[in-house]
Amino acid sequence: MSAKIPVGVLGATGAVGQKFIKLLEDHPWFEVTEVAASERTSGRLYGDAVSWKQVTPVPEAVRSLEIRSCIPDLKCRVVFSGLDAAVAGPVEEDFARAGYVVLSNSKNHRLDEDVPLVIPEVNPEHLDLIPIQRRNRKSTGCIVTNSNCTTMFLAMALGPLHKTFTVERVFMVSMQAVSGAGYPGVPSLDILGNVIPYISGEEEKVEIETRKILGTFNGRTIDLADFPVSAQCNRVPVEDGHTESVSVKLARKTTAAEIGDLLRGYAGVPQELKLPSAPQHPFIVMDAPDRPQPRFDAAQAKGMATLVGRIRPCSVFDYKFTLLGHNTVRGAAGASILNAELLKARGFLG
Ligand SMILES: NC(=O)c1ccc[n+]([C@@H]2O[C@H](COP(=O)([O-])OP(=O)(O)OC[C@H]3O[C@@H](n4cnc5c(N)ncnc54)[C@H](OP(=O)(O)O)[C@@H]3O)[C@@H](O)[C@H]2O)c1
Repeated sequence: MSAKIPVGVLGATGAVGQKFIKLLEDHPWFEVTEVAASERTSGRLYGDAVSWKQVTPVPEAVRSLEIRSCIPDLKCRVVFSGLDAAVAGPVEEDFARAGYVVLSNSKNHRLDEDVPLVIPEVNPEHLDLIPIQRRNRKSTGCIVTNSNCTTMFLAMALGPLHKTFTVERVFMVSMQAVSGAGYPGVPSLDILGNVIPYISGEEEKVEIETRKILGTFNGRTIDLADFPVSAQCNRVPVEDGHTESVSVKLARKTTAAEIGDLLRGYAGVPQELKLPSAPQHPFIVMDAPDRPQPRFDAAQAKGMATLVGRIRPCSVFDYKFTLLGHNTVRGAAGASILNAELLKARGFLG
């Protein structure tokens, strides 16, 4: 019998759901035993129903699983959710109420007062909200969320900067890949040879989620970090990898070299605990003046690191730099899996 923890994937047929299935293949601690999706696909075998868009085949062990409905009668205690935001809210609550640990990618519960919004390298202590959530909701399960994909790379980089230099304000312009819109996503005639300067709700998510992640646990909830974030988000004809141009104002004087050294040498809790999905180095700082680039760099460190380049003085704020990250790996499924690994290491998975 397998000693691995059985897990389910809700929304298993979608873009994020497929990434879960792919990243969990051969995971040392977790094994996908249940897949669930909408009435459109439930009752069919996963391999027959899914419109598989990954570059490796559907894992053999998942191909023959029957797709279940998203109701909490799955034979596992941990579920990863890649559900459409239109349905994720109540479904994830039902699972948590029934005792499941829910690792969610959706926006619905990220800002709930008693729900952790976690990047293990930045704010692992926010998991201390779990006992409070369980008490508030009279439940033995819980919901733990990871951020919006664009927020991920910004908040990850701001984490060490805020701790060391105190961030005072942030300005960010994103160039976001089409895979961030799921499948079939943006029509090809809208995006080929084009830039769309609007992604519904994205700027608001980046501006508030960043402040929750960098906020302080006050024993009951999270006090938001006390600095403004201004985000401008654009969809560009790139397949995978979100690029972000960031300017920051810092309370403590520093140099571009010191910022580079801080990020290059940074290690967080996942690195100390050697969690299976943790990148060896959370940041890859690139010195070439024309990097990072999504085509060449987004998949470095198996898509789990944040790439940083072009750190230089800013004539409006103090410093500016370029960030890049793999939006469906570290920006979505990979982030949830790392959160689950931290939960296991902290004893929350029993
Ligand atoms: N794509 C990204 O890079 C990214 C990054 C971070 C966060 N997210 C978030 O992750 C979530 C999923 O995004 P996605 O891009 O993977 O979307 P997607 O490709 O459209 O997939 C949505 C999934 O939800 C299922 N679903 C839809 N309606 C349902 C219902 N009524 N009951 C149960 N299941 C239902 C679909 O199942 P069927 O196939 O059966 O219809 C499918 O499995 C969203 O909340 C999104 O905002 C996405």
